[in-house]
Amino acid sequence: MTRLDWLSQPARALHGSVRVPGDKSVSHRSMMLSALAEGRSHIRGFLEGEDTRATAAVLQKLGVRIETPSAGERVVDGVGLHGLRGTAEALDCGNAGTGMRLLAGLLAGQAFDSTLIGDESLSRRPMRRVTEPLAAMGARIDTQDGLPPLRVHGGQPLKGIRYTLPVASAQVKSALLLAGLYAQGETEVIEPHPTRDYTERMLAAFGWPIEFEPGRARLSGGHRLRATDVDVPADFSSAAFFLVAGSIVPGAELRLPAVGLNPRRTGLLQALRLMGADITVEHERESGGEPVGDLIVRHAQLHGVELPEALVPDMIDEFPALFIAATAAKGRTVVRGAAELRVKESDRIATMAAGMKAIGANIEETPDGAIIDGGALRGGEVDSHGDHRIAMSFAVAGLMAQGPIRIADCANVATSFPGFMELANGCGFELRTDG
Ligand code: S3P
Repeated sequence: MTRLDWLSQPARALHGSVRVPGDKSVSHRSMMLSALAEGRSHIRGFLEGEDTRATAAVLQKLGVRIETPSAGERVVDGVGLHGLRGTAEALDCGNAGTGMRLLAGLLAGQAFDSTLIGDESLSRRPMRRVTEPLAAMGARIDTQDGLPPLRVHGGQPLKGIRYTLPVASAQVKSALLLAGLYAQGETEVIEPHPTRDYTERMLAAFGWPIEFEPGRARLSGGHRLRATDVDVPADFSSAAFFLVAGSIVPGAELRLPAVGLNPRRTGLLQALRLMGADITVEHERESGGEPVGDLIVRHAQLHGVELPEALVPDMIDEFPALFIAATAAKGRTVVRGAAELRVKESDRIATMAAGMKAIGANIEETPDGAIIDGGALRGGEVDSHGDHRIAMSFAVAGLMAQGPIRIADCANVATSFPGFMELANGCGFELRTDG
């Protein structure tokens, strides 16, 4: 991949309406369930990101016909639970942990063998968290010492298990539920810390009998998925960068229409409000079985907080953005109980701490979080380590720095938020490619 660097500079004010793209988690799941359903499903608002396109391409390689009538739209001719065709070609999930882990569960129940591969970052991410419980269901999946590639052996009879998640992970829960579609008997996942429930909600929407509540999901094998239409809400995790930007730039006022507000995703909204942010929700409604609303954010002086640990799973992807909000805040912010950040697209605690120190922030890394004291940012050079959310968070930091921030390695922003730069500049950012 060609290397792409950005330069972010202070902005005067931010104004306007920012329509962020479709939710990544919902887009992945809509593609997988449509592929396994009987009949034709129409997906609207599908995220045109590299991660979700990789999942669509994998399913095409497995024989699913997918049309793209227009950007953000997919028409999927489902092949039914047992209609996928095996391929000797490796299935490339790109940068997507969600793609690889959910597909591992889905492929464990097939009659054929498959190999799942990923990019450099995905190839360093832990996979035993899915392969071990899947093995307990009867699956056979080889890893390279716990890392990708994953070699999934087909033709293994699966049986349901009752599994308590040792780490909060919607990906692991979803992998087990997808394998559970193919298993004899009941699969039950217990979550000490509830995580996003899109797989559960969408299985129900596709007609699969499932019982779920926060902390527990249970289904049995042997049913069918019926094609259905899916409206994908705008991604709260993409809106997050604008919630922080609007909070920290004096005079800012931004509107973010039709953002998904599933309570398992909106921890950052609560965190920012605890810090004194001025964010309101208008036109709360339901769309495609998900709560959505328009978010309005206005500048406010933030103050530091001891972040309640209970919020961590509900904002697991928003910590890079929160760290920037914490430097704009008066006083100290303490984050604990977030060790999972170390195994995301990069080690997000280490990558953020290194970058923030390089631009003059006051941050101390801890094993499971950070201690951040608010203060001015000088500007300077940071490395995103190819992590999309870190690149976008430093673009936001550039709004409040005294000098420009040069951000290295930003191409992966296209995995989750194609068009970020144009949308950001459209509301007043001063962001451009560099070099
Ligand atoms: C996701 C779950 C989370 C999140 C990721 C998307 C999902 O990962 O970080 O961006 O769609 O299920 P974990 O399950 O590893 O917490």
